[in-house]
Amino acid sequence: MAARKVSPRGPRYAQITGWGMAVPEKVVTNDDLAKIVETSDEWITSHTGIKQRRIADGRETTLTLAVRAAQEALAVAGVMPGQLDLVIVATVTPEYLFPSTASLVQDRIGAVAAGAFDLSAGCSGFIYALSMAADAVRSGHADHVLVIGAETLSRIVDWKDRNTCVLFGDGAGAVVVSACAEQCGIMASVLGSDGSGGDLLIVPGGGSRNPLSRELLERGDQFAKMNGREVYRFATTIMPRATAAVVQKAGWQLEDVALVIPHQANVRIIDAAIKRLGLPADRFFVNIDRYGNTSSASIPIALCEAIAAGRINAGDRLVMVGFGAGLTWAAVALEWGIPEPARPRPLFFRWLVRAWSFLADLRSRLRRVERRTYDRVLGPKGTEGLREEVEEQTGRLREEVQEQTGWLRERLVGRRPAPPTAGSPDSRPSAPQELGGAGGRTEGGDKAAGPQDPPSSSGDAH
Ligand code: ACO
Repeated sequence: MAARKVSPRGPRYAQITGWGMAVPEKVVTNDDLAKIVETSDEWITSHTGIKQRRIADGRETTLTLAVRAAQEALAVAGVMPGQLDLVIVATVTPEYLFPSTASLVQDRIGAVAAGAFDLSAGCSGFIYALSMAADAVRSGHADHVLVIGAETLSRIVDWKDRNTCVLFGDGAGAVVVSACAEQCGIMASVLGSDGSGGDLLIVPGGGSRNPLSRELLERGDQFAKMNGREVYRFATTIMPRATAAVVQKAGWQLEDVALVIPHQANVRIIDAAIKRLGLPADRFFVNIDRYGNTSSASIPIALCEAIAAGRINAGDRLVMVGFGAGLTWAAVALEWGIPEPARPRPLFFRWLVRAWSFLADLRSRLRRVERRTYDRVLGPKGTEGLREEVEEQTGRLREEVQEQTGWLRERLVGRRPAPPTAGSPDSRPSAPQELGGAGGRTEGGDKAAGPQDPPSSSGDAH
């Protein structure tokens, strides 16, 4: 859907005009996990519905996944990064405590006119962000908002804890929310929170209450802790309740809903919601078997796959509903406004979005060099410091050029150049056991002391 100006004075609605997803290539199956913790494919499948998940390697982070999903969503929407007014990243695994991942995305894609902030609301984060985006668009504050749910939960999972490590996966999904004059798009939302359950799903360490310390790391308080049974009880109650509430708020009947896209945490939680709501099972979209629980990313990834599977048509009434740490819950009711199954944008436009991002990245690097020049030249390290800085930035730029040309070549001739060989200047330290970040990475990419690593993957991206 091409970006079209909507009068700030006439009726304004907020609809999703673009969508995209990105998941790591690495696939980790239940059998892989059974090699490192006492579990089995049978237990995980029967208790959760999960068969495999994607795990980020050392080169992939919440930011890189978010940027890939964002570029795809912009290309589908036909919106250039420079047209964005706001970038919101919902995440519980941000790139850093600060700056926000959203600001880094804004910089990487070249959203030069956009404000940016992160939103933390557990697995409900994407729906919270979608609701904020719709408000910003309907109020006339913004014409185009980029909403991303992105996570690398593998970095905060204790790979020795079978109660949690089998559940989570990494990935990102993004949508562009744009103003439109037709009555469609996000019609109602319901947001809720009950902080009395904050301890049921928590990363106790690393914040203001328990700053990082050797003792904390030894206790493993940097990892996610969960009371699975209580979260399960909460989820099975709140998912149907939030769904019914948002349907009522939109003035619809439950039977009007063509498709519910629920947060993918456990197929049994989804089954319980189906039962309580009395809707046919085929009105719920489920893809947890392939990705596990990707927290804020699960709903936008499921949305992308539902569209690709032809499950969403113009005029369909949809509900997206999530729950998570906080405790929080959120649901939106939306009427799908895209007139026909979205055709992929011409390669040229997709390339244009990436070229724009590339130039933005170049500009950003030059600004960083410029900003530090004065400091370095006159500082104690003198011109040596400046040389290091320039070398670092040009090294990163070379990687970026390789990434962009690789992407383009893949689309033009269906083949990627071979990855840099180990030891070459472009190779980065590989993640623990090729799985990325179980124990976290130090600044130089090395793994910090951590628990047992998950096993290497069994397969590749489909
Ligand atoms: N493999 C084998 N056995 C296991 C595993 C495993 N991976 N995990 C737990 N068990 C064992 C337990 O130790 C327990 O053994 P015990 O009876 O000897 O003590 C037994 O299996 C049953 O444990 P339960 O906790 O009762 O298992 P349950 O059927 O409730 O399933 C689960 C556990 C999957 C965690 C479930 O409670 C659940 O899905 N809860 C919700 C979790 C959730 O949605 N979290 C995400 C929230 S969203 C966010 O913000 C990130």
